[in-house]
Amino acid sequence: MPATVVVGAQWGDEGKGKIVDLLAQDSDVVCRYQGGPNAGHTIVVDGETWKLRQMPSGVVSGTQSVIGAGCVVDAQVFVDEVDLLKTRGIDPSIVVLSGNAHLIMPWHVTIDQASERRLGKLQIGTTRRGIGPTYADKASRIGIRVQDVLDAKILREKIEVALAEKNLWLERIYDVAPFDLEEVWAQYAGFAEQLAPFVGDASLLVDQALHAGKNVLFEGAQATMLDLDHGTYPFVTSSNPIASGAPTGIGIGPTRIDRVFGVSKAYVTRVGEGPFPSEIPGDDQARLRELGGEFGTVTGRERRCGWLDIVALRYAVRINGITSLALTKLDVLSDFAELPVCVRYRLRDGSETEHFPAHQSDFHHAQPVWEVLEGWRQPLDDASSLDELPRAAHAYVELVSQALGVPIELVGVGAARERVLA
Ligand code: GDP
Ligand code: IMO
Ligand code: MG
Repeated sequence: MPATVVVGAQWGDEGKGKIVDLLAQDSDVVCRYQGGPNAGHTIVVDGETWKLRQMPSGVVSGTQSVIGAGCVVDAQVFVDEVDLLKTRGIDPSIVVLSGNAHLIMPWHVTIDQASERRLGKLQIGTTRRGIGPTYADKASRIGIRVQDVLDAKILREKIEVALAEKNLWLERIYDVAPFDLEEVWAQYAGFAEQLAPFVGDASLLVDQALHAGKNVLFEGAQATMLDLDHGTYPFVTSSNPIASGAPTGIGIGPTRIDRVFGVSKAYVTRVGEGPFPSEIPGDDQARLRELGGEFGTVTGRERRCGWLDIVALRYAVRINGITSLALTKLDVLSDFAELPVCVRYRLRDGSETEHFPAHQSDFHHAQPVWEVLEGWRQPLDDASSLDELPRAAHAYVELVSQALGVPIELVGVGAARERVLA
């Protein structure tokens, strides 16, 4: 598996961190290709819990870890995670940070927060970490990149240009305090020293690794349905988490990718606003949230919970070119007598479809058509392979695989690294 993309197939928090950590055991390089500290990837190893926001999950196993040009970087979060690595006995020199990645500046965070407040009930429900405003400035070509902090003169110029506009917005539109050029400059000149040892050429490093026949993993943050172009816009993030984002975000050609590993929960969760056809009605939602510990890693918000949505998963298979799937958190469903699965959407005109609607209004009004599967009502602790799963649990996995036409290679039955059936 020389070049493998691991991509979220739903609305995020599928357990990508855990799957990446597992696959990293057989990999030489792990890369993050988009997103920033809006991500929260949890990895549980030897009873120790890691919650990574900025770094690739490969760091947990001490694997060389790359942050690509497509990422946005919060310098403080990066520095804090470098310290975390040191505290846990991992040499941070395994991390390479692309000089082309954009920096999340303090005004991006302020604007994200102020913009959400202003939107009121129309808010996106962002993580308020400055992600959208940073990507917007990147597209407007007024962003500040990691390499800009390495030259104090360039850094000052760029901050000055940015603040000339941002401070007007902050004061006149959002009614919040402006930023002081000297203060921000001093703070980021300070980061320069801390970031400099990590800055490198991510594209060249990955290209050379692939030429040398090494195994490279590309770790997506967020997920398919949060993709800026192909997700449930505007309730999306501001980057391209889908698999095609990997070559763009790292700087290699699309022909280099060998396989795409989709990660899906055995049910669905979503944080933030937006339509969600398979959202569970009634008390079962709170029950599933408690059983699955479905509270945001970054924001602590309650995750909305739904039964598995095959229509949305079929879309994820198409958009990403998923070649195999990991189904996580099957153990969480062990408590339910019946397990509805959304196999089709019923549209406003009464017709039913297996395909994700191309038009937003069709999606907003889509009603789930359920197929109800039998639960297994016993813990999955005894199974050490897929064949040893209780009959009903095996049938559940089989239904997903059949409906999608994709093999399910891994099934998660617990949070710890070893709680995976192959
Ligand atoms: P990510 O953002 O996709 O990496 O996922 P998160 O880490 O935000 O959320 C997944 C949560 O489920 C974390 O708390 C994981 O420790 C946990 N988890 C992952 N796989 C499994 C599994 O198979 N079973 C259970 N019970 N928990 C899991
Ligand atoms: P991981 O990598 C789940 C959601 C936010 C919001 C929308 C936009 O842990 O799966 P943003 O701050 O990116 O502008 O917010 O996207 N969101 C996530 N939801 N998991 C994530 O990351 C997410 N990152 C962003 O809740 O709805
Ligand atoms: Mg997460």
